[in-house]
Amino acid sequence: MVLSDKLNAAINEQIGHEFAASLQYVAIASYLEREGLPGLARHFFKQAEEERDHAMRFVRYLNELEAPLALPAVVAPQGQFASPEAAVALALTREQTVTRQINHLMDLAVQDQDHLSRQFLGWFVREQLEEEASVGHLLKMMQRAGDKNLFLVEAYLLKQADSDSDDAD
Ligand SMILES: [Fe+2]
Ligand SMILES: [Fe+2]
Repeated sequence: MVLSDKLNAAINEQIGHEFAASLQYVAIASYLEREGLPGLARHFFKQAEEERDHAMRFVRYLNELEAPLALPAVVAPQGQFASPEAAVALALTREQTVTRQINHLMDLAVQDQDHLSRQFLGWFVREQLEEEASVGHLLKMMQRAGDKNLFLVEAYLLKQADSDSDDAD
């Protein structure tokens, strides 16, 4: 099974985008933690781990295919934000960009009639729906609460995290 050079190169680039997303979430989570919002911070530290997992899925795919792996330089994240809401709005914009990148990878796989890569990328196409929906809903909750009432969003997230950890038990 051979990956086309074009798709191979695009996947190597995507690995950089996923690691960059991971760093961006570490920056957002750290800002939120310093703003006294531990529930939001925890949520975004978890997202940072998920992005690393995404990068690793691509790395393992190339390794399995014995396709060239060329890890790119990672773009530094934005670390300063005007408000907690602005930080989460940036997260949504970045997820929308990643969705376009994943769709581009899928376009290449379709052009190549590369059925294995189409199946592999299908997971990411579905994952982006979840990622955009989750950060979009969070942003709406924050806008509804307003800066003074973010503790309501905090309470919701901390309760949700507790019930998630109960489920894991
Ligand atoms: Fe991702
Ligand atoms: Fe993501």
